[in-house]
Amino acid sequence: MLNATSPAVPAVHDGLHVPAELAASLSARQPWISPKFLYDPLGSKLFEAICELPEYYPTRTEAGIFDLHGVEIAQTVGTGATLIDLGAGNCAKAASLFPLLQPRQYVPIDISAEFLHDAVERLHQRFRHIDMRPLGMDFSNRLDLPDNVREERRLFFYPGSSIGNFTPDEARDFLQRVHAQCGRDGGLLIGIDLAKDHAVLDAAYDDALGVTAAFNLNVLRHVNRLLDADFDIRQWRHRGFYNPAQGRVEMHLEAQTVQHVTWRGGSRRFAAGEWIHTENSYKYRQSDAVELLGQAGFAATRVWTDPKQWFAVVYARAMSH
Ligand code: AVI
Repeated sequence: MLNATSPAVPAVHDGLHVPAELAASLSARQPWISPKFLYDPLGSKLFEAICELPEYYPTRTEAGIFDLHGVEIAQTVGTGATLIDLGAGNCAKAASLFPLLQPRQYVPIDISAEFLHDAVERLHQRFRHIDMRPLGMDFSNRLDLPDNVREERRLFFYPGSSIGNFTPDEARDFLQRVHAQCGRDGGLLIGIDLAKDHAVLDAAYDDALGVTAAFNLNVLRHVNRLLDADFDIRQWRHRGFYNPAQGRVEMHLEAQTVQHVTWRGGSRRFAAGEWIHTENSYKYRQSDAVELLGQAGFAATRVWTDPKQWFAVVYARAMSH
């Protein structure tokens, strides 16, 4: 149920502030922009479009696993949980599981607060009986849940292989923070993209329509707004490819000509051909993924995959300390 004071969905918590980290990362010897800045309202919409692309297999492969094994997954994780959706976006993935999982409370969390709020407004029209507590916050470095999030039967839902956007060390630290919030009877239902043929990966992150390019370039628009910067987007080009030495896909933006960019409190000259690193997307072997979960205090109870073994959905129970 929603707040008595609110006619619709409770106001999204605005835990977001523009970190000095962004300006610092642009000034680094090898400049980078955290991938969390890819998700302003337009970036979130572009990501939705990416998920529709024929080349971008993760979304439909994961959905196929839920279609095929959803009943068994629900039996394994149980119904009536406090479903905490990390990086909920448009909430569509969790919503498609509501009939099977029948959560008691739904807590979608996303850095794109505005986009999340609109999605939850719509979702609440369809599932009025579910208590919804949207939280607009960056959960990548801290995971503090307010008191109105139930402590019983917490099921963290982290689909889409967003875990791959952390380095393995960061992923372990992040999963440890999730584990710390699980309580005695909590668990994690997570989607993890698996290592596969490089050509499939290259195409998935550099699609023919250029949607991923727009998604990547849009980060500069976002930075322009956040830092009063003056990146000329037409002067940058998307690069997305698999790096076998690192076991990850990388996204970068490449300056097409010499660029002098200024922002609040700083400036930089980018040489022609210089890159700004915007995202990593690690691809795991199944055994490494299970080991990573174990290092964070989870016992990987069940693993479901697709016939090509491109993607894994894992239910991991939090082991007590
Ligand atoms: C959100 N994340 C799991 C996506 C990925 O595949 O790493 C983001 C993305 N970047 C480019 N395309 C999609």
